[in-house]
Amino acid sequence: MESGCPVPTEWEESVSEVLIGTSDIAKRINELAAILSMGYTKLNPILIVVLKGSFIFASDLSRALPFPHELEFIRASSYQGTNTTGNVRIQGLEKAKLKDRHLIVIEDIVDTGLTLRCIYRNLKDAGAASIKCCTLLEKETTRRQEFVPEVDFVAFRIPDKFVVGYGLDFDQRLRHLSFVGVYRQ
Ligand code: IMP
Repeated sequence: MESGCPVPTEWEESVSEVLIGTSDIAKRINELAAILSMGYTKLNPILIVVLKGSFIFASDLSRALPFPHELEFIRASSYQGTNTTGNVRIQGLEKAKLKDRHLIVIEDIVDTGLTLRCIYRNLKDAGAASIKCCTLLEKETTRRQEFVPEVDFVAFRIPDKFVVGYGLDFDQRLRHLSFVGVYRQ
């Protein structure tokens, strides 16, 4: 399925537009894997997978990476419905051994950047050797907060619309879609 093609009839009630199609995501993931292999091939980095939203992206990206790496999974909760609550809670770092390791945070989407800012703070405290971020989506928004770290690797920059699919949800629904679509509000 390509970007811009019609929304499959079974999802028409919830999705107004196919923003990024399945085949375009797959192609971009291979490009990202090639870019990451330039810097990380000998570093055995840890992918810090931010659940739940990045589980599909991380699993496809991990399998495309042509170099050894490890995975850790954390939970970040900051949203209810389509609005940010401003509160970010990070869970799952308690037992991870991150000291002197090279970390790549795998995000589904960077919107205000509050989640990423909070994750970076936690990872720095854990003594990481380096921290970079790879996100599936970056929203073009005026809501970006202060002191948000630069996003190093971005698969797609998208307009300021609420999107679902390929891991992203609306109140836990529609994560399973194989494409990224605009949520029909
Ligand atoms: P931030 O802290 O505002 O950057 O938001 C990050 C988190 O908000 C993401 O990891 C998502 O879980 C959620 N989020 C932001 N925008 C969207 C969206 O358009 N669709 C679904 N989830 C979103």
